[in-house]
Amino acid sequence: MALTKDYGLGEYTFPRGWFMIAEASEVKDKVLPVRFFGQEFALYRGKASGKVVLLDAYCPHMGTNMARNESSYVVRDGQIEGDSIRCPYHAWRFGPDGKCNDIPYSKAPIPKAACVRSWPVVESLNAIFVWYDAEGGEPEWEAPSLKEWDDPQWIRWKFDHLGTLACHGQEVIDNIADCSHLNPVHGSSVSYYRNEFNGHLATQLQGGGHRTLVTPDGVSPILTTDTTYHGPGFLLSKMMGMGESIIFIGHTMVDDGIIKVWHALLVKSRHERPTEQDVIEAAAYQEASRLAFAQDFDVWANKRAAIQILQVPGDGPFHKSRIWYRQFYNPRARKQEFLKQVEGVQHRVAGMPGRLEEADTAA
Ligand code: FES
Ligand SMILES: [Fe+2]
Repeated sequence: MALTKDYGLGEYTFPRGWFMIAEASEVKDKVLPVRFFGQEFALYRGKASGKVVLLDAYCPHMGTNMARNESSYVVRDGQIEGDSIRCPYHAWRFGPDGKCNDIPYSKAPIPKAACVRSWPVVESLNAIFVWYDAEGGEPEWEAPSLKEWDDPQWIRWKFDHLGTLACHGQEVIDNIADCSHLNPVHGSSVSYYRNEFNGHLATQLQGGGHRTLVTPDGVSPILTTDTTYHGPGFLLSKMMGMGESIIFIGHTMVDDGIIKVWHALLVKSRHERPTEQDVIEAAAYQEASRLAFAQDFDVWANKRAAIQILQVPGDGPFHKSRIWYRQFYNPRARKQEFLKQVEGVQHRVAGMPGRLEEADTAA
């Protein structure tokens, strides 16, 4: 298993960005223990506001993990009070801001140090996202959202929970520049391909025929995907061919070299108001998309790390996407060093049209 330092990514072990940490429906008014970025957290939904709260799990009193206890009477009686949470050990209570607001057996003023870190979280797209930042700064770009999410013609997703994978995020990010795997792994006859990088966005534009997604009479319509990583944690891919859909793939670092992965698909219905049949078909389409993603997963689950890529002409611009990725592992003050090497250019692949208009799509 390779670590961040093995790839020479930068100063920080974990990258800066918005990351999915749970499906929204998993977060109830019972604390959920979660581990990401090599840390333990307590995740819960406040009873008073319904807002999701993410706190460092370890209590400052004596280090109890507030999220991993089943037996204390504090937990049995209900650990969440209003928007606050009580520690199972001595029942200190912490607000959504992370500050202790009650020590039930002490009349003395609450010490200033009686607090845990409260993390910036948003609930969006049926998921909970956290802004992770080794520098502790404000979010550098907007939280995840999609205008299609609020359009009733689009059938909302439920997540596929793909579990943890002992694979560094770098190997997953390499996919955004991986032109030459599309045919052997996914059966795509790629007729055009290019990459573009812009700030926290890394985009791949490609299209062609497809061996998996064919009509019942065996015709493979041109399938185009416009795929963008929004920072290092997740991608959104607009897929056009047999209808319109948007893929979500998120991966979040659990520990260095270990990621947790989710997949989902938002599908545009043929009807303004989706019918029951449309909803069934959308779920089947999500499953087809999950199976296509599983073809990547199959490789990642078993490969050794590609610390160096033995690049040949015809491969995508891996070295450029790796430079783009390094901005998130270094102080934001240094990001231009990386961006000036990749921005403002359409990165094409030897022997491959870069745009649909240039492609001979007759085949
Ligand atoms: S360890 Fe949390 S209240 Fe004592
Ligand atoms: Fe792939």
